[in-house]
Amino acid sequence: MNHEIVEKNLGLMIILTIVAISFGGLVEIVPLFFSKKLNEPIAGLKPLNAIQLEGRDIYIREGCHVCHTQMIRPFRAETERYGHYTVAGEHVYEHPFLWGSKRTGPDLARVGGRYSDDWHRAHLYNPRNVVPESIMPSYPWLFKDKVDHKLTPKKMEALRKVGVPYTDEDIAGASAAVEGHKEIDALVAYLQQLGTILPTKR
Ligand code: HEC
Repeated sequence: MNHEIVEKNLGLMIILTIVAISFGGLVEIVPLFFSKKLNEPIAGLKPLNAIQLEGRDIYIREGCHVCHTQMIRPFRAETERYGHYTVAGEHVYEHPFLWGSKRTGPDLARVGGRYSDDWHRAHLYNPRNVVPESIMPSYPWLFKDKVDHKLTPKKMEALRKVGVPYTDEDIAGASAAVEGHKEIDALVAYLQQLGTILPTKR
């Protein structure tokens, strides 16, 4: 009898459908906020230092994340190629995440330590230097421009507000750590620490 009322009343049907879906969503999503495994840093995780942090901003500015993911899925084909699959606790200090979904180039979640600094420099100057068939763009201006060191402490302060554990000393020393460095130094420093806490493929 009650069922007939719902089936014949479109407005009521819509409202009850929304209630049912919302309930399902809450049951799935809310527990995630309280799961330690998902919102606590894994052992050994440190926030990016000043120069690595600037490198990350260059990575975002240049759109590297448009062609590269930083998210290894828990499948054999992926872990064989890139190393340990990505876990949430590696990314708790990242605002925003750079997981991505488009892989024109390989995943970079664990590229840290896979190549030398010199390899990265040659590759970023012109990828064809080291990978003849590469379609990745060249980034020669990174070798010319210096990192703007004045904003680094402010960036760290902003990140501290959202929970990244930078100390007063980190922030006080940030400008000096970055001053005089070229953008390429910062970007390579950022790439070389990516995903190095968990086992990576060399
Ligand atoms: C248009 C897409 C595209 C963009 C944008 C791009 N890449 Fe790539 N990248 C590729 C492709 C394709 C490859 C594979 C060929 C090669 O090694 O050059 C690659 C390879 C790489 C590799 C080697 C990965 C490995 O495991 O061998 C690194 C490191 C890298 N890119 C970093 C960057 C960085 C840093 C940026 C931004 C400054 C960037 N890429 C922007 C397409 C892109």
